[in-house]
Order: sequence, then structure tokens, then C-alpha cells
Amino acid sequence: MTTNTIPAPVTLSAKHLLGIEGMSVMTMHQLLDRASYFADHMTQDVEQTLKGSTIVNLFFENSTRTRVSFEVAAKKLGASVLNISVAGSSVKKGETLIDTATTLNAMHPDILVVRHHAAGTPYLLSQHVDAAIINAGDGRREHPTQALLDALTIKRKFGHIEGLRIAICGDIANSRVARSNLYLLGGLGAEIRFVSPSTLLPPSIGDLGVGVYHDMREGIKDCDIVMMLRLQTERMEGRETPSQHEYFNLFGLDSEKLQDAAPNAMIMHPGPMNRGVEIDSLIADDHERSLIQKQVEMGVATRMACLEALYHSMALVK
Ligand code: CP
Repeated sequence: MTTNTIPAPVTLSAKHLLGIEGMSVMTMHQLLDRASYFADHMTQDVEQTLKGSTIVNLFFENSTRTRVSFEVAAKKLGASVLNISVAGSSVKKGETLIDTATTLNAMHPDILVVRHHAAGTPYLLSQHVDAAIINAGDGRREHPTQALLDALTIKRKFGHIEGLRIAICGDIANSRVARSNLYLLGGLGAEIRFVSPSTLLPPSIGDLGVGVYHDMREGIKDCDIVMMLRLQTERMEGRETPSQHEYFNLFGLDSEKLQDAAPNAMIMHPGPMNRGVEIDSLIADDHERSLIQKQVEMGVATRMACLEALYHSMALVK
């Protein structure tokens, strides 16, 4: 997808980007259009719309893709970036979450990018700081920029999202990616299916209005996209799957099961992957079918659009 006219920086109605739930379809399209423009110009200089701003990455959970891509995105737009390593911070001396956030706030950052294992942390911090907050993943709740980069990857591959049949497979119960993608891809008109053993579905599954399948081959049948999820053992109690070997046999994606998807179905995974647990390496590394590296690439463009939108929107109300 190549845009002819340059989409303008997006103006958001909210000060923070805490989730996809409640985001208007118009804002979803605007963010994707702006991100696609950045993706088309990734090797060129773009307008330094974050010049003079300070972005702080505050990650209480491990991350490779999200943290680094926020840093790259911010620098490409001219921002100064600080990465707070929780392991090397005063959190380790017992400082509370809110004291940490208000301490950083006193240094007047413009945007705090926050990842935390507890759902709702970005919202909580937004009540205590002047900076705008971007949720970079909170517990099992939401990971909005992951969903946006997934949508961008799909839109640039297929030309549209509406009407696509998308199976999101695996550990739904512990996945913030599944929830954000249901809101975003479903909101943009895709048919979403969750494919998972019943032990890996959230108790609230009936309220989400999504088709649920317990058989992998039935669930991915005729799907245009098969999105695999990591088994998030760090959030599990230990009794959800009999063994990783058995899980792979029933719910791992391999070339045999993939035959039931649409003939040109594409494979996605937010990463990090557990090879041989939820996905076979032959599928993950199949450059004809796998969009996994493209998802990482789109992460930078997506986060450029999101950072810019928050900074631009803040400037309008000052
Ligand atoms: N997809 C994702 O959030 O990856 P990281 O944990 O590496 O940031």
C-alpha cells in the first residue's frame, strides 16, 4: 500500500494511549495511514515532529521488540529518549510504582511508555503524572501498539482488513495481544476466531462476542491469517497444558495443520516465539508465508505514528 497524499499527524481525543477498546474506527484508520506513510519512508529523513520532546521508556517487564522499536521510532522523529532499566533503578530499593513515576514526572518528560505485569498500571500512572502515557503492554489486558502494527502488516499485505478471516490461536487467557487485536481487527471488519484449549481461555470469553474453537484444524479452516500466540508460562499456574509436547501436537502450527487454512494464508506471531511449542520452525521461517519479521519492521512505523499523535495532540491543547 503506497499513499499518494501525505496523511497528517493524527489528532487524538484522549491524552493517553491506554488501549484499543473505545478507540474510534476513524482514529484506527488515521493511525494506520500515518504509520503506513512512515513505513514507506523508513530509509528517508522525515519531518522531526518530536524535536524538543523527551520520551521515557519505563519497562517493568522484559521486552526486545517493543522497547527497542519505541526508541528507534522516537529518535527517527527527533526526540530525546531515556530508557529506565527497572533492574538498575530505585524500584529495587523498595520505591513504589507511583513514587517512581512521580519522580520521573518531576523531570518533565513529554511521554512515558510503560510496560507492567499488572493490568491497569498505565491507567493508574496516568492519574499521577503530567506526561502522556502509552501502554506498552499491561498484564493480560492490552497491548495497543502491537495490535496496530499487526493491523498495519495485514493492511499492507492484503490491501484491506475488512472481510478477512483471522484465527488467533493458543494462549488467549494470558494474552493482551489477543484482546487488543480483537478490538482492533474486529473493529475494522475482520472476522476473528479464537482457537484454544478451554484451559487457556479467559473466564469472560462469552462476553467478547468472538467465535471460539477447540480444534485447531477446524478453527483455522479457510482463514486468511493464522496468528499464533506464545504460551505465556510466566502468567500460568502450571496445570493449563499436559505437556509442551502434547500442546504442540494439538495446537502447534505445522505444515500439516496449515493445509486447512485458505490456500494463501499468511502466518503471524507477535514474538517472542517458542519454536516447537506453538509454532514449527519451518513455518515460522517460511518467507513465502510468514509475516513475523514484517511485523517487527512495522513496529517502528506504528510507534512513530503513535508517539507523534500524542505529542501533536498535547501541543494542540497547550
Ligand atoms: N511482541 C512483544 O511485545 O515483544 P517484546 O516482549 O519483545 O516487546
